[in-house]
Amino acid sequence: MAISVENGVFHLETANTLYQMKADRFGVFIHLWYGAKTGHTMDYLLDYPDVGFSGNIYEAENQRTYSLNTLPLEYAAGGGCDGDFRIPAVSATNADGSSVLALRFQEYRVKKGKYKIDGLPAVYTDEAEAETLEIILRDDISNVEVCLLYGVLPQADIITRSVSVTNKGNEKVVLERVHSLCMDIPYGDWEWVHFHGKHTMERQMERTALVHGIQESSSTRGASSHQQNPTVLLCEKGCTETSGFCIGAALMYSGGFQTQIELDQLDQVRLVMGINPDTFAWMLEPGESFYAPEVVLSCSEHGLAELSHRFHRILRENVCRGKYKLSERPVLINNWEATYFAFDEKKIEKIAKQASQLGIDMMVLDDGWFGKRDSDMSGLGDWAVNRTKLSGGLGGLSEKINQMGMKFGIWFEPEGISEDSELYRKHPEWVIRIPRRNPVRSRYQLVLDLSNDAVIEYLYYTFSKILREYHIEYVKWDMNRSICDWYTAELPPSRQKEMPHRYILGLYALLERLTNEFPNVLFEGCSGGGGRFDAGMLYYCPQIWCSDNTDAHERTFIQYGTSFFYPTSTVGSHVSAVPNHQTGRITSLKTRAAVAMAGSFGYELDLNQLSDKEKEEVSKQVAAYKRYQKLIYNGLYYRLSNPYKDNMAVWAFMSENRNEILIQGVVFRARSNSLRKRVRLMGLDLEGLYQSEQDGCTYTGQALMSGGILLPRIEGDDAAFEIHLERML
Ligand code: DGJ
Repeated sequence: MAISVENGVFHLETANTLYQMKADRFGVFIHLWYGAKTGHTMDYLLDYPDVGFSGNIYEAENQRTYSLNTLPLEYAAGGGCDGDFRIPAVSATNADGSSVLALRFQEYRVKKGKYKIDGLPAVYTDEAEAETLEIILRDDISNVEVCLLYGVLPQADIITRSVSVTNKGNEKVVLERVHSLCMDIPYGDWEWVHFHGKHTMERQMERTALVHGIQESSSTRGASSHQQNPTVLLCEKGCTETSGFCIGAALMYSGGFQTQIELDQLDQVRLVMGINPDTFAWMLEPGESFYAPEVVLSCSEHGLAELSHRFHRILRENVCRGKYKLSERPVLINNWEATYFAFDEKKIEKIAKQASQLGIDMMVLDDGWFGKRDSDMSGLGDWAVNRTKLSGGLGGLSEKINQMGMKFGIWFEPEGISEDSELYRKHPEWVIRIPRRNPVRSRYQLVLDLSNDAVIEYLYYTFSKILREYHIEYVKWDMNRSICDWYTAELPPSRQKEMPHRYILGLYALLERLTNEFPNVLFEGCSGGGGRFDAGMLYYCPQIWCSDNTDAHERTFIQYGTSFFYPTSTVGSHVSAVPNHQTGRITSLKTRAAVAMAGSFGYELDLNQLSDKEKEEVSKQVAAYKRYQKLIYNGLYYRLSNPYKDNMAVWAFMSENRNEILIQGVVFRARSNSLRKRVRLMGLDLEGLYQSEQDGCTYTGQALMSGGILLPRIEGDDAAFEIHLERML
């Protein structure tokens, strides 16, 4: 049994982890443990210090040491409720205007299989592979009921959490915050890792010691954002890739989110994660419920690599869906950086022809194929083909591409709209803007109101028609701005703050419909690169364009940060032209391919501009990628260096049976009079004997892990290398 209850203590057990909690004598729901399987009930760690200015709940009578301000709580109303002044996981305004929720344990239910959340993405699995625990907490005065949901996946070492809140009273209640995760950790010396960035530089890893007070990583942009990612790591000081304790949490949500960590007066940690309360409120009429998105949790006693492996597996196998979830993906050529908006049928055909001769599987037609779309200033929303550019229409072009033996894919930006478009002239009321105010433009464009059912119906009709009419096997679903000016004519003034979440529900509903109806189409998520790279989008799109930055050097940093949670198969990555369009940097074709291979591989340049020698190299790269694709997608991914510190980015893919290892990487700065670089491998069988395909040398697993392997002698900056090892014995 993954879930058991003994003497009032709830045990959630996975292969290597244990989660414990209990209701205490006052019905306060206490968090006891998340970590190694101790074989023990961990309530002996609870302490009841007499801390000044830490109030006592009335039920505790004169026990001044019993304070919710000092106890580890499982789901805290905080913010002063019940005397707990730490960060809240849930807050609401009751019918009488007060904001207190005094949550007490009511009952629990254990169910077979994993719960689902209506309208929201969630980890899915066979009934036999998971169990669900529901814990009901209740505030008896406001009649607000909170249901804590736990999905336990023992083999995956994963626990998922979600929350629903139900108004069981007779008057309305306004929810102001419903975080999906709340976790109190009383002991330890912690650092946190978050992934910050900007457009063209997403998911930069930052690891810092916790400081007293609140640290936050969040987005109010209507998307998970380039600037912060809805994932977080808590590491005990000294935790490395292969040792030490760490906890990871990934929010399965694509809208504005908030992760907060508070280090309190007693050096205790509280972590909360969920929809960003700054752009959220939800009115619950009597009898109504609200469902928060899911958080995926795991922890490891053996460092960050093992933790990453667990997230990679669960996201790849139990979040991604559809035909391409586990199968090999087509190597693609995308015309964006080759042509931008300046193309016609002939140009695209020429690029495709060349690509097909080099073994590339699919031609993706990017932005600019529709409406009056010769720049990003107009046309968005008019999804009829631009006959000036494509005289044979989408049908004509796709047929020609298919005749070359290639698949055909296309770019959509369903959520965006130009003011200079037929759609805007016809339906100005469909855009997000506040009456009597001018909207903020970004990339000259506005955003459609996806909380409006009529808009969703229109988008479904428009895009399903295109997908039905033409032989399209791939869609790049882009979204090119952050959202502000939140307002919808669909809701009364008192409910306007529901809109950001309703937008995401609309987006998910649309994606669900389209991906179900077109299961053979590969959907790639995108938001100006990786501005919506999150577990929520992966439920619909098994790959996401990782960044608009295709510079191989900078990409190693972006992909390093991305790798902590997201599997390689989800990371869209292309070889582009040099000088690179984002940085002006020149790197070799070899380096560009090595970096792009650590992802869903493709090209994004005019192959006709390459020399014959380069073309030959491309065709070898495509063949090499196809040879290694299974290993790259399904193997265990290891970060063998820290690019911020080591003057190199080195990573490895190892087959689960540990018989095959592909090491790839880039050494950044060439140095004169220096030793060859060395990396230590991880996860090998110590007794195994491994041979390098490149130089025939053999090594024991122990030697490769302790002594390491020398990288080939490197010349020039940003030089790539590859070492392929196979187990002999
Ligand atoms: C942003 C994407 O990230 C790019 O790859 C490209 O598709 C452009 N949008 C097109 O407008």
